[in-house]
Amino acid sequence: MEIDIFTLFPDAFDWFERQHHVAGALAHGTTLGYVNYRDHTPLKAGQVDDTPFGGGAGMVLRVDVVEAALRARYGLDPVELRAQRRVLALTAAGRLLDDELVDDLAREPSLTLLAGRYEGFDQRVIDHFATDEVSIGRYVLAGGELAAMVVCDALLRKLPGALGHEQSVVEESYSKALEGAPEYPHYTRPAEYRSWRVPDVLLSGHHARIREWRLAQSRARAAGEPPDGSLP
Ligand code: ADE
Repeated sequence: MEIDIFTLFPDAFDWFERQHHVAGALAHGTTLGYVNYRDHTPLKAGQVDDTPFGGGAGMVLRVDVVEAALRARYGLDPVELRAQRRVLALTAAGRLLDDELVDDLAREPSLTLLAGRYEGFDQRVIDHFATDEVSIGRYVLAGGELAAMVVCDALLRKLPGALGHEQSVVEESYSKALEGAPEYPHYTRPAEYRSWRVPDVLLSGHHARIREWRLAQSRARAAGEPPDGSLP
């Protein structure tokens, strides 16, 4: 998969690229590219934002600046671009990111992520250049960089090479294998710690019963019930 991130702070992604699963996906052919809006602005002195029409606090990322950056990277009108690839505008108000959307995005050959800053984008960026408006939660971040990392993190771990155990992405929280429910609880050694015992079924070696127990735990979590063995 080829992912391009448009941002005013490409350096913010240095740490992200060093993470094991990200480095693994990159080694398997995924590419992460960065475009700094400021490098392509048609305005003087590196200006990229402006005051909002109608007044109000904060600054808004300009539509002509975003267009110039997209044109510089892809060499075509961004209105046409969005017929060719998914372009995600990251905003606090967008569609909430969930496992279904991540699966959907993981099937794309290429993606463009637009990170905003300040008060966000001129609405025309979202209306005419983006295919999706995506939020990572109902809170406002200072910029879209962390949101872009969250989208990429969730997505890259679904791609080959990102994780050592490919099975772990099949049966995990909110996956189809678990009927969209949160994942069951995990335990490891020691089997008993400060009198807190691991549920017996997990030590039984009886795979069918373990599977049944895990599914029941997952369903109970979805229903808001406490996990087995977590009495006060
Ligand atoms: N930009 C600012 N807040 C955001 C959020 N919650 N999700 C995605 N992008 C954002």
